[in-house]
Amino acid sequence: MALHIGSLAPDFTQDSTEGPIEFHKWAGNHWVILFSHPKDFTPVCTTELGYLAKLKGEFEKRHTKILALSVDDVASHKRWTSDIEETQKTKLNYPILGDADRKVSKLYDMIHPEWNDTLTVRSVFVIDPNHKIRLIITYPASTGRNFDEILRVLDSLQLTDKFSVSTPVNWKHGEEVVIAPSITDPKVLKEKFPKGYRELKPYLRLTPPPNG
Ligand code: BEZ
Repeated sequence: MALHIGSLAPDFTQDSTEGPIEFHKWAGNHWVILFSHPKDFTPVCTTELGYLAKLKGEFEKRHTKILALSVDDVASHKRWTSDIEETQKTKLNYPILGDADRKVSKLYDMIHPEWNDTLTVRSVFVIDPNHKIRLIITYPASTGRNFDEILRVLDSLQLTDKFSVSTPVNWKHGEEVVIAPSITDPKVLKEKFPKGYRELKPYLRLTPPPNG
């Protein structure tokens, strides 16, 4: 069945560079970034995995775990790790699933046969603490991802889950947010948004971040 935003992230058990992972148990009550890369020992993937290792502290601040995957086996991932660490000047600090049997790749539709029968595309799933899928992005093999964007989306999801707001175009943590158009009672508006708001249109009202 196709996975959508709101779908339960399928559970699985698969081997990884840090030992077998039972996915839901491993995720616990964390947010998770599950992402695939096409192949070990390839240039773009090497830069991506290194950059994410450097960003790990930012993900931890957001109570988020990182899990990588490709259809190479764990032994290959381990050999490649030293290249990532040497060239990207970092220590690989999150597990990579060895999905040689394609169990997880198939479960998450990470193989797009019109591009390649066997390799995974660059998929990203953001999964929340209830194991629900909250974001799905797919990039082509030739384009390295912008993982700063994934942090931005996490900030938005975590904020909008808590308050009756959404985040406008190119929003970044700390900037004004949009009040849900469904809230019209002046008393409720005052209670929920004590810092006030700017009304550009009745449906477009901007307020300072409620958590700021
Ligand atoms: C890369 O990571 O550079 C790459 C991997 C597979 C296909 C194309 C590029």
